[in-house]
Amino acid sequence: MSTPSRVGVGIIGGGLMGREALAAFGRWAALPGHPVRPEAVCVADPAPAAREFFTAHGVDTVADHTELLARDDVEVVYAAVPHDLHERIYLDVLAAGKDLLAEKPFGIDLDAARRIVAAIEASDRFVRCSSEFPFYPGAQAAVDRVRSGALGPIIEARGAFLHSSDLQRSKPINWKRQRARCGDIGVMADLGMHVVHVPFRLGWRPRSVRAVLQDLVSTRPDPAGGTAVCDTAENATLSCRVPGPDGDFPLTLETKRIAPGEMNTWVFEAVGMDGGVSFTTRSPAVVRRFRLTDAGEQVWEQVQPGHHSVFPTITGGIFEFGFPDTLLQLWAAFLAERAGQLGERFGCATPREALDSHALFAAALRSDERDCVEVVAYDDAAASA
Ligand SMILES: NC(=O)c1ccc[n+]([C@@H]2O[C@H](COP(=O)([O-])OP(=O)(O)OC[C@H]3O[C@@H](n4cnc5c(N)ncnc54)[C@H](O)[C@@H]3O)[C@@H](O)[C@H]2O)c1
Repeated sequence: MSTPSRVGVGIIGGGLMGREALAAFGRWAALPGHPVRPEAVCVADPAPAAREFFTAHGVDTVADHTELLARDDVEVVYAAVPHDLHERIYLDVLAAGKDLLAEKPFGIDLDAARRIVAAIEASDRFVRCSSEFPFYPGAQAAVDRVRSGALGPIIEARGAFLHSSDLQRSKPINWKRQRARCGDIGVMADLGMHVVHVPFRLGWRPRSVRAVLQDLVSTRPDPAGGTAVCDTAENATLSCRVPGPDGDFPLTLETKRIAPGEMNTWVFEAVGMDGGVSFTTRSPAVVRRFRLTDAGEQVWEQVQPGHHSVFPTITGGIFEFGFPDTLLQLWAAFLAERAGQLGERFGCATPREALDSHALFAAALRSDERDCVEVVAYDDAAASA
């Protein structure tokens, strides 16, 4: 086995996801034969409490991200900051000549995403957008089944990301619940990339959308003991028309922060005239497949994909796969593709896919505001064909 080449990573934003990145690097020994080994060399975060976590694990920290970007040992940056900071920080990363794994939604709105993608395409930097749920073995099995053609002409499909972290009205406000920092698209900024990554990768790009957005909780306690305006939509349900080779079909996309009974459920399912497939992280050990027998019986059968991931691990094939494993796979895919060694494997969401997601969510926002169907205006010529 050849020695993996080391790559120095700088993390901008040492919050929830910055900490997860460091933890993923700590599990790198689980990926035998991966060509690259990431090492966190510096973390930038203005919050002293955020920096303390990394200092305790021996990682240099700075308050200002420009100091991190000035370091020669930072080759790749992972940026996980509030959405209103995406554009400025992503553009700074590119200007500093670093490669970038950028968090979704890739800019606070469509215009910001356009400027970010224009800067990426004018550079020679390698950039991808974070979206890890498709790396579940069950999700990969579902993707493979659709790609195999076993479903026949598609009847309908659904992608959903459901949780209930906002169900408790007493939960204090944070930046994800405020338009100015999260974005006008609200919950779609938070959860939207997760539900479009697989459909987009399968070539299912909605032509039009009818959306219903719900702002279910309008105020929340603030840390000072008062009340703060909570003006983001918590739930968004999108009914999309997707052009397919066998005719248009409906794709339902749900992003919900208030889905009673759901903790953190990612769903992808599709049915066609010849077969179907369904995967949910609620039952992550199984993929359900639909088939019609010669005797006319309608059968939903369960298959257990085990721990067979996009990048092989030392973990035994019978053991359960979970959220931290998806992040390990996301990083493995990002760094392998950057090294030119992804091959035919499933890769991270591209800047163009992130831009397309913004075009879809901007149309969904208009649809909700105007109470009508909206055509999705993608930025490339292929969309209008
Ligand atoms: N891929 C996923 O599953 C997933 C999950 C949650 C969040 N996210 C995304 O990750 C990003 C961050 O979300 P989070 O949940 O980690 O948020 P968070 O609030 O936990 O962390 C954000 C961090 O950014 C820091 N920060 C603020 N201004 C900064 C600056 N100028 N420079 C550097 N750091 C700064 C804050 O101090 C904080 O520590 C968002 O884009 C969010 O949508 C992705």
